Amino acid sequence: MSGPPPQAWLNALLVLIEKCQLGLLSLWHALGLTGDSHGQPAWPWARRIAGETLLIDLGLARQVGLSVCAIGFAVLAVSVALAWRRQRVVLLGAGALALLVAPWPKASLLLGPAMPTSFHASPTRFSVDAIALGARVYAQHCAGCHGADGRGEGPLAATLAQWPPTLVSPLLARRADGELFWHVLAGMRDRHGRLTMPGLRSQFGDREAWAVIDYMKALSAGSGAGADSNWPVPLRLPEMAIRCGSDAPLALSQWRGGQRVRLVAVDGVESLPYEDPRFLTVLVTQDGKAPAQVPRFRAGCTATSPHAWQAVASIAGEAPARLAGTQLLADRAGWLRARGAPGRQWSDADLVCVSAPTANTSRNAAPAPDGLTALLLRMDAEPVRFVKGGLVH
Ligand code: HEC
Repeated sequence: MSGPPPQAWLNALLVLIEKCQLGLLSLWHALGLTGDSHGQPAWPWARRIAGETLLIDLGLARQVGLSVCAIGFAVLAVSVALAWRRQRVVLLGAGALALLVAPWPKASLLLGPAMPTSFHASPTRFSVDAIALGARVYAQHCAGCHGADGRGEGPLAATLAQWPPTLVSPLLARRADGELFWHVLAGMRDRHGRLTMPGLRSQFGDREAWAVIDYMKALSAGSGAGADSNWPVPLRLPEMAIRCGSDAPLALSQWRGGQRVRLVAVDGVESLPYEDPRFLTVLVTQDGKAPAQVPRFRAGCTATSPHAWQAVASIAGEAPARLAGTQLLADRAGWLRARGAPGRQWSDADLVCVSAPTANTSRNAAPAPDGLTALLLRMDAEPVRFVKGGLVH
Protein backbone atom coordinates (compact mmCIF):
# COMPACT_ATOMS: atom_id res chain seq x y z
CA MET A 1 0.00 0.00 0.00
CA SER A 2 1.28 3.42 -0.86
CA GLY A 3 0.09 6.74 0.50
CA PRO A 4 1.14 8.53 3.63
CA PRO A 5 1.67 6.37 6.71
CA PRO A 6 -1.49 6.24 8.84
CA GLN A 7 0.31 8.01 11.67
CA ALA A 8 0.24 11.38 9.92
CA TRP A 9 -3.48 11.75 9.30
CA LEU A 10 -4.50 9.70 12.30
CA ASN A 11 -2.47 11.94 14.54
CA ALA A 12 -4.04 15.05 13.04
CA LEU A 13 -7.50 13.53 13.50
CA LEU A 14 -6.82 12.62 17.14
CA VAL A 15 -5.48 16.10 17.87
CA LEU A 16 -8.58 17.62 16.25
CA ILE A 17 -10.92 15.42 18.28
CA GLU A 18 -9.06 16.23 21.49
CA LYS A 19 -9.14 19.97 20.76
CA CYS A 20 -12.86 19.91 19.92
CA GLN A 21 -13.71 18.12 23.14
CA LEU A 22 -11.52 20.46 25.20
CA GLY A 23 -13.11 23.44 23.43
CA LEU A 24 -16.57 22.15 24.23
CA LEU A 25 -15.58 21.64 27.85
CA SER A 26 -14.21 25.20 28.12
CA LEU A 27 -17.38 26.57 26.55
CA TRP A 28 -19.62 24.60 28.93
CA HIS A 29 -17.52 25.74 31.86
CA ALA A 30 -17.55 29.38 30.74
CA LEU A 31 -21.33 29.25 30.40
CA GLY A 32 -21.57 27.92 33.93
CA LEU A 33 -23.12 24.64 32.76
CA THR A 34 -20.49 22.53 34.48
CA GLY A 35 -18.57 23.04 37.69
CA ASP A 36 -15.15 21.98 38.88
CA SER A 37 -13.78 18.63 39.93
CA HIS A 38 -10.44 18.41 41.71
CA GLY A 39 -9.62 21.98 40.75
CA GLN A 40 -10.23 21.77 36.98
CA PRO A 41 -13.38 21.99 34.80
CA ALA A 42 -15.41 18.79 35.17
CA TRP A 43 -16.38 16.83 32.04
CA PRO A 44 -20.16 16.76 32.42
CA TRP A 45 -21.00 13.76 30.24
CA ALA A 46 -20.68 10.05 30.91
CA ARG A 47 -19.14 9.41 27.48
CA ARG A 48 -16.43 10.92 25.32
CA ILE A 49 -14.95 10.20 21.92
CA ALA A 50 -12.48 7.39 22.50
CA GLY A 51 -9.28 8.39 20.70
CA GLU A 52 -7.61 5.23 21.94
CA THR A 53 -10.13 3.07 20.03
CA LEU A 54 -9.37 4.94 16.81
CA LEU A 55 -5.70 4.13 17.27
CA ILE A 56 -6.45 0.44 17.17
CA ASP A 57 -9.34 0.43 14.70
CA LEU A 58 -8.07 2.10 11.53
CA GLY A 59 -11.33 1.40 9.67
CA LEU A 60 -13.32 3.31 12.26
CA ALA A 61 -10.74 6.10 12.20
CA ARG A 62 -11.16 6.38 8.43
CA GLN A 63 -14.93 6.65 8.81
CA VAL A 64 -14.52 9.40 11.40
CA GLY A 65 -12.00 11.21 9.19
CA LEU A 66 -14.32 11.14 6.17
CA SER A 67 -17.29 12.26 8.27
CA VAL A 68 -15.26 15.17 9.64
CA CYS A 69 -14.39 16.12 6.05
CA ALA A 70 -18.09 15.94 5.12
CA ILE A 71 -19.01 18.21 8.03
CA GLY A 72 -16.26 20.63 7.01
CA PHE A 73 -17.50 20.65 3.43
CA ALA A 74 -21.12 21.18 4.51
CA VAL A 75 -20.16 24.10 6.77
CA LEU A 76 -18.18 25.64 3.91
CA ALA A 77 -21.05 25.13 1.47
CA VAL A 78 -23.53 26.81 3.82
CA SER A 79 -21.22 29.77 4.47
CA VAL A 80 -20.60 30.32 0.75
CA ALA A 81 -24.34 29.91 0.08
CA LEU A 82 -25.10 32.71 2.51
CA ALA A 83 -22.99 35.10 0.46
CA TRP A 84 -23.70 33.79 -3.05
CA ARG A 85 -27.43 33.83 -3.64
CA ARG A 86 -27.46 32.64 -7.26
CA GLN A 87 -25.88 29.29 -6.48
CA ARG A 88 -27.52 28.88 -3.11
CA VAL A 89 -29.65 25.87 -3.98
CA VAL A 90 -26.77 24.01 -5.61
CA LEU A 91 -24.45 24.72 -2.68
CA LEU A 92 -26.96 23.73 -0.03
CA GLY A 93 -27.76 20.61 -2.02
CA ALA A 94 -24.08 19.70 -2.28
CA GLY A 95 -23.62 20.25 1.47
CA ALA A 96 -26.60 18.08 2.29
CA LEU A 97 -25.41 15.37 -0.10
CA ALA A 98 -21.98 15.33 1.57
CA LEU A 99 -23.63 14.79 4.95
CA LEU A 100 -25.88 12.12 3.49
CA VAL A 101 -23.14 10.01 1.91
CA ALA A 102 -20.66 10.42 4.79
CA PRO A 103 -19.85 7.04 6.39
CA TRP A 104 -21.04 8.02 9.86
CA PRO A 105 -19.37 5.84 12.50
CA LYS A 106 -21.49 3.95 15.00
CA ALA A 107 -21.80 5.97 18.21
CA SER A 108 -21.42 2.82 20.32
CA LEU A 109 -18.00 2.17 18.77
CA LEU A 110 -16.86 5.77 18.76
CA LEU A 111 -17.76 6.68 22.32
CA GLY A 112 -16.16 5.36 25.47
CA PRO A 113 -16.87 5.87 29.15
CA ALA A 114 -15.78 9.19 30.62
CA MET A 115 -15.42 10.58 34.09
CA PRO A 116 -15.41 14.12 35.44
CA THR A 117 -11.61 14.23 35.36
CA SER A 118 -11.17 12.64 31.89
CA PHE A 119 -9.73 15.82 30.40
CA HIS A 120 -7.74 16.96 33.40
CA ALA A 121 -4.10 17.82 32.84
CA SER A 122 -1.55 16.71 35.39
CA PRO A 123 -0.19 19.72 37.30
CA THR A 124 3.12 18.02 38.13
CA ARG A 125 4.99 18.63 34.85
CA PHE A 126 6.51 15.17 35.40
CA SER A 127 8.98 16.74 37.79
CA VAL A 128 11.68 14.77 39.57
CA ASP A 129 10.15 15.82 42.89
CA ALA A 130 6.74 14.43 41.88
CA ILE A 131 8.35 11.17 40.72
CA ALA A 132 10.11 10.85 44.10
CA LEU A 133 6.88 11.53 46.01
CA GLY A 134 5.08 9.05 43.76
CA ALA A 135 7.72 6.42 44.50
CA ARG A 136 6.95 6.67 48.21
CA VAL A 137 3.18 6.55 47.64
CA TYR A 138 3.57 3.56 45.32
CA ALA A 139 5.74 1.59 47.74
CA GLN A 140 3.27 2.20 50.55
CA HIS A 141 -0.11 1.81 48.83
CA CYS A 142 0.26 0.05 45.49
CA ALA A 143 3.23 -2.33 45.42
CA GLY A 144 1.38 -4.92 47.52
CA CYS A 145 -0.90 -5.65 44.57
CA HIS A 146 0.90 -4.23 41.54
CA GLY A 147 4.38 -5.45 42.53
CA ALA A 148 7.53 -3.40 43.16
CA ASP A 149 8.37 -3.69 39.46
CA GLY A 150 4.82 -2.86 38.30
CA ARG A 151 4.25 -6.21 36.62
CA GLY A 152 1.15 -6.94 38.67
CA GLU A 153 2.64 -9.71 40.78
CA GLY A 154 2.68 -8.19 44.26
CA PRO A 155 2.24 -10.45 47.30
CA LEU A 156 -1.49 -9.66 47.51
CA ALA A 157 -2.20 -10.12 43.81
CA ALA A 158 -3.09 -13.80 43.99
CA THR A 159 -5.69 -13.15 46.70
CA LEU A 160 -7.70 -10.78 44.50
CA ALA A 161 -10.74 -11.69 42.42
CA GLN A 162 -9.03 -10.04 39.48
CA TRP A 163 -5.33 -10.01 38.76
CA PRO A 164 -3.90 -6.46 38.60
CA PRO A 165 -2.77 -5.50 35.09
CA THR A 166 0.90 -5.11 34.35
CA LEU A 167 1.89 -1.47 34.19
CA VAL A 168 4.86 -2.43 32.02
CA SER A 169 2.69 -2.21 28.92
CA PRO A 170 1.19 0.55 26.79
CA LEU A 171 -1.70 0.77 29.31
CA LEU A 172 -0.50 3.97 30.95
CA ALA A 173 0.10 5.63 27.62
CA ARG A 174 -3.29 4.66 26.21
CA ARG A 175 -5.25 6.05 29.16
CA ALA A 176 -5.71 9.77 29.63
CA ASP A 177 -3.92 10.97 32.76
CA GLY A 178 -7.21 12.29 34.16
CA GLU A 179 -8.76 8.83 33.93
CA LEU A 180 -5.83 7.15 35.66
CA PHE A 181 -6.17 9.84 38.33
CA TRP A 182 -9.85 8.99 38.75
CA HIS A 183 -9.18 5.27 38.95
CA VAL A 184 -6.50 5.74 41.58
CA LEU A 185 -8.75 7.87 43.79
CA ALA A 186 -12.13 6.26 43.18
CA GLY A 187 -11.07 2.68 42.48
CA MET A 188 -12.39 0.44 39.70
CA ARG A 189 -15.36 -1.85 39.31
CA ASP A 190 -16.08 -4.74 36.99
CA ARG A 191 -19.16 -5.06 34.77
CA HIS A 192 -21.25 -6.30 37.68
CA GLY A 193 -20.35 -3.32 39.86
CA ARG A 194 -18.01 -5.30 42.11
CA LEU A 195 -14.95 -3.42 43.30
CA THR A 196 -11.83 -4.74 41.56
CA MET A 197 -9.36 -2.12 42.73
CA PRO A 198 -10.00 -0.21 45.96
CA GLY A 199 -10.28 3.58 45.76
CA LEU A 200 -7.51 5.25 47.70
CA ARG A 201 -9.22 8.58 48.23
CA SER A 202 -9.19 8.20 51.99
CA GLN A 203 -5.45 7.44 52.05
CA PHE A 204 -4.02 10.45 50.22
CA GLY A 205 -4.88 13.61 48.31
CA ASP A 206 -4.80 14.89 44.74
CA ARG A 207 -1.12 15.76 44.91
CA GLU A 208 -0.12 12.20 45.79
CA ALA A 209 -2.45 10.75 43.13
CA TRP A 210 -0.90 12.85 40.35
CA ALA A 211 2.58 12.04 41.68
CA VAL A 212 1.99 8.28 41.72
CA ILE A 213 0.92 8.44 38.05
CA ASP A 214 4.25 10.05 37.21
CA TYR A 215 6.09 7.40 39.16
CA MET A 216 4.18 4.58 37.45
CA LYS A 217 5.24 5.94 34.07
CA ALA A 218 8.87 6.10 35.17
CA LEU A 219 8.61 2.58 36.62
CA SER A 220 6.97 1.26 33.47
CA ALA A 221 9.82 2.60 31.35
CA GLY A 222 12.50 1.42 33.77
CA SER A 223 10.98 -2.03 34.19
CA GLY A 224 10.35 -2.44 30.48
CA ALA A 225 13.79 -1.25 29.44
CA GLY A 226 15.53 -4.50 30.32
CA ALA A 227 13.11 -6.89 28.67
CA ASP A 228 12.33 -4.95 25.54
CA SER A 229 14.49 -2.28 24.02
CA ASN A 230 11.46 -0.09 23.29
CA TRP A 231 9.81 1.65 26.21
CA PRO A 232 6.11 0.86 26.58
CA VAL A 233 5.40 4.48 27.52
CA PRO A 234 7.01 7.47 25.82
CA LEU A 235 8.35 9.73 28.55
CA ARG A 236 8.98 13.42 28.73
CA LEU A 237 12.30 14.62 29.99
CA PRO A 238 11.47 15.09 33.68
CA GLU A 239 11.19 18.67 34.82
CA MET A 240 13.92 19.81 37.20
CA ALA A 241 15.74 22.97 38.14
CA ILE A 242 19.28 23.13 36.82
CA ARG A 243 22.13 25.48 37.59
CA CYS A 244 24.75 26.35 34.99
CA GLY A 245 27.95 27.74 36.50
CA SER A 246 27.04 30.39 39.04
CA ASP A 247 23.81 31.51 37.30
CA ALA A 248 20.43 31.38 39.03
CA PRO A 249 18.64 28.00 38.64
CA LEU A 250 16.49 27.55 35.51
CA ALA A 251 13.74 25.09 34.62
CA LEU A 252 15.01 22.38 32.29
CA SER A 253 11.82 22.63 30.21
CA GLN A 254 13.13 25.97 28.92
CA TRP A 255 15.15 24.00 26.41
CA ARG A 256 12.13 22.17 25.05
CA GLY A 257 11.53 22.96 21.42
CA GLY A 258 15.12 24.15 21.02
CA GLN A 259 18.02 22.05 22.13
CA ARG A 260 18.40 18.34 22.80
CA VAL A 261 19.28 17.46 26.39
CA ARG A 262 21.57 14.80 27.82
CA LEU A 263 21.35 13.81 31.49
CA VAL A 264 24.46 12.16 32.89
CA ALA A 265 24.60 10.59 36.35
CA VAL A 266 28.04 11.33 37.80
CA ASP A 267 29.61 10.38 41.10
CA GLY A 268 32.99 12.05 40.87
CA VAL A 269 35.10 14.47 38.86
CA GLU A 270 36.78 11.62 36.96
CA SER A 271 33.51 10.53 35.36
CA LEU A 272 32.56 14.03 34.17
CA PRO A 273 31.55 14.01 30.52
CA TYR A 274 32.88 16.49 27.99
CA GLU A 275 30.69 19.34 26.79
CA ASP A 276 29.11 18.52 23.42
CA PRO A 277 27.55 21.21 21.23
CA ARG A 278 24.93 18.77 19.94
CA PHE A 279 23.03 18.90 23.21
CA LEU A 280 22.81 20.55 26.58
CA THR A 281 24.55 18.30 29.10
CA VAL A 282 23.09 18.23 32.61
CA LEU A 283 24.92 16.46 35.41
CA VAL A 284 22.82 14.55 37.90
CA THR A 285 24.53 14.03 41.23
CA GLN A 286 23.47 12.17 44.35
CA ASP A 287 23.10 15.28 46.47
CA GLY A 288 22.04 17.84 43.85
CA LYS A 289 25.31 19.72 44.21
CA ALA A 290 27.75 20.43 41.39
CA PRO A 291 30.99 18.42 41.72
CA ALA A 292 33.72 20.55 43.25
CA GLN A 293 36.08 22.05 40.67
CA VAL A 294 34.60 21.20 37.30
CA PRO A 295 37.54 21.39 34.86
CA ARG A 296 37.23 23.55 31.74
CA PHE A 297 35.52 21.94 28.75
CA ARG A 298 33.65 19.61 31.06
CA ALA A 299 29.89 19.95 31.33
CA GLY A 300 28.92 22.66 33.78
CA CYS A 301 25.12 22.40 34.32
CA THR A 302 23.85 20.42 37.30
CA ALA A 303 20.39 19.36 38.45
CA THR A 304 19.75 21.06 41.79
CA SER A 305 17.19 18.62 43.20
CA PRO A 306 18.55 15.65 45.15
CA HIS A 307 15.49 13.76 43.83
CA ALA A 308 16.84 13.85 40.28
CA TRP A 309 19.14 10.89 40.98
CA GLN A 310 16.28 8.69 42.17
CA ALA A 311 14.03 9.77 39.28
CA VAL A 312 16.68 9.05 36.65
CA ALA A 313 17.35 5.68 38.29
CA SER A 314 13.64 4.76 38.11
CA ILE A 315 13.41 5.78 34.46
CA ALA A 316 16.63 4.04 33.48
CA GLY A 317 15.65 0.90 35.39
CA GLU A 318 18.89 0.93 37.42
CA ALA A 319 19.37 0.56 41.15
CA PRO A 320 20.34 4.02 42.50
CA ALA A 321 23.64 2.62 43.76
CA ARG A 322 24.61 1.53 40.24
CA LEU A 323 23.40 4.56 38.34
CA ALA A 324 26.70 6.44 37.95
CA GLY A 325 27.69 6.74 34.31
CA THR A 326 24.19 6.14 32.95
CA GLN A 327 23.02 8.71 30.40
CA LEU A 328 19.59 9.66 29.10
CA LEU A 329 19.14 11.58 25.87
CA ALA A 330 16.10 13.70 25.01
CA ASP A 331 15.17 14.99 21.57
CA ARG A 332 14.43 18.60 20.73
CA ALA A 333 10.75 18.20 21.57
CA GLY A 334 11.65 17.07 25.09
CA TRP A 335 10.97 13.32 24.74
CA LEU A 336 13.42 10.89 26.27
CA ARG A 337 14.70 8.76 23.42
CA ALA A 338 17.88 6.92 24.33
CA ARG A 339 19.63 5.43 27.31
CA GLY A 340 23.39 5.01 27.37
CA ALA A 341 25.14 2.46 29.57
CA PRO A 342 28.25 3.48 31.53
CA GLY A 343 31.45 3.33 29.52
CA ARG A 344 29.89 2.11 26.26
CA GLN A 345 29.73 3.79 22.86
CA TRP A 346 26.29 4.90 21.73
CA SER A 347 24.56 2.83 19.10
CA ASP A 348 21.11 2.35 17.60
CA ALA A 349 20.42 -0.28 20.26
CA ASP A 350 20.29 2.48 22.87
CA LEU A 351 17.10 3.95 21.43
CA VAL A 352 14.36 3.20 23.93
CA CYS A 353 11.54 5.23 22.42
CA VAL A 354 11.27 4.41 18.76
CA SER A 355 8.44 5.87 16.73
CA ALA A 356 7.03 3.87 13.80
CA PRO A 357 9.32 0.90 13.23
CA THR A 358 10.55 2.18 9.92
CA ALA A 359 12.82 -0.04 7.95
CA ASN A 360 13.65 2.54 5.33
CA THR A 361 15.49 5.10 7.44
CA SER A 362 18.88 3.69 6.67
CA ARG A 363 18.14 2.76 3.07
CA ASN A 364 20.19 5.49 1.48
CA ALA A 365 22.43 6.07 4.43
CA ALA A 366 25.54 7.98 3.46
CA PRO A 367 28.87 6.85 4.91
CA ALA A 368 27.94 5.76 8.39
CA PRO A 369 28.47 8.53 10.93
CA ASP A 370 29.55 7.62 14.44
CA GLY A 371 27.01 5.88 16.67
CA LEU A 372 25.91 8.99 18.52
CA THR A 373 25.46 11.13 15.39
CA ALA A 374 23.45 8.38 13.74
CA LEU A 375 21.28 8.18 16.83
CA LEU A 376 20.67 11.93 16.89
CA LEU A 377 19.81 11.99 13.19
CA ARG A 378 17.34 9.19 13.69
CA MET A 379 15.75 10.90 16.68
CA ASP A 380 15.25 14.06 14.64
CA ALA A 381 13.90 12.17 11.64
CA GLU A 382 11.37 10.15 13.65
CA PRO A 383 9.63 12.46 16.10
CA VAL A 384 7.37 11.07 18.80
CA ARG A 385 3.78 11.73 17.92
CA PHE A 386 1.71 12.37 20.94
CA VAL A 387 -1.94 12.67 21.67
CA LYS A 388 -3.27 12.60 25.19
CA GLY A 389 -5.02 9.33 25.81
CA GLY A 390 -3.67 7.79 22.65
CA LEU A 391 -0.10 7.68 21.53
CA VAL A 392 1.60 6.89 18.30
CA HIS A 393 5.09 6.20 19.56
C1 HEC B 1 -5.97 -4.44 46.55
C2 HEC B 1 -5.10 -4.47 45.41
C3 HEC B 1 -4.77 -3.18 44.70
C4 HEC B 1 -4.20 -2.06 45.24
C5 HEC B 1 -3.81 -1.79 46.69
C6 HEC B 1 -4.00 -1.13 44.14
N1 HEC B 1 -4.45 -1.69 42.98
FE1 HEC B 1 -4.43 -0.83 41.16
N2 HEC B 1 -5.49 -2.37 40.39
C7 HEC B 1 -5.84 -3.51 41.06
C8 HEC B 1 -6.64 -4.36 40.21
C9 HEC B 1 -7.22 -5.70 40.58
C10 HEC B 1 -6.79 -3.66 39.00
C11 HEC B 1 -7.59 -4.09 37.76
C12 HEC B 1 -8.97 -3.49 37.93
C13 HEC B 1 -9.89 -3.64 36.75
O1 HEC B 1 -9.40 -3.69 35.61
O2 HEC B 1 -11.10 -3.67 36.98
C14 HEC B 1 -6.03 -2.41 39.13
C15 HEC B 1 -5.90 -1.47 38.14
C16 HEC B 1 -5.03 -0.39 38.19
C17 HEC B 1 -4.70 0.47 37.11
C18 HEC B 1 -5.21 0.37 35.68
C19 HEC B 1 -6.25 1.42 35.54
C20 HEC B 1 -6.93 1.45 34.23
O3 HEC B 1 -7.32 2.57 33.86
O4 HEC B 1 -7.11 0.40 33.60
C21 HEC B 1 -3.83 1.41 37.57
C22 HEC B 1 -3.18 2.54 36.80
C23 HEC B 1 -3.64 1.14 38.98
N3 HEC B 1 -4.36 0.04 39.32
C24 HEC B 1 -2.84 1.89 39.80
C25 HEC B 1 -2.77 1.72 41.18
C26 HEC B 1 -2.10 2.62 42.08
C27 HEC B 1 -1.34 3.87 41.67
C28 HEC B 1 -2.27 2.13 43.33
C29 HEC B 1 -1.76 2.71 44.63
C30 HEC B 1 -2.03 4.08 44.88
C31 HEC B 1 -3.05 0.91 43.22
N4 HEC B 1 -3.33 0.70 41.90
C32 HEC B 1 -3.41 0.11 44.28
C33 HEC B 1 -5.48 -3.83 42.36
C34 HEC B 1 -4.93 -2.94 43.28
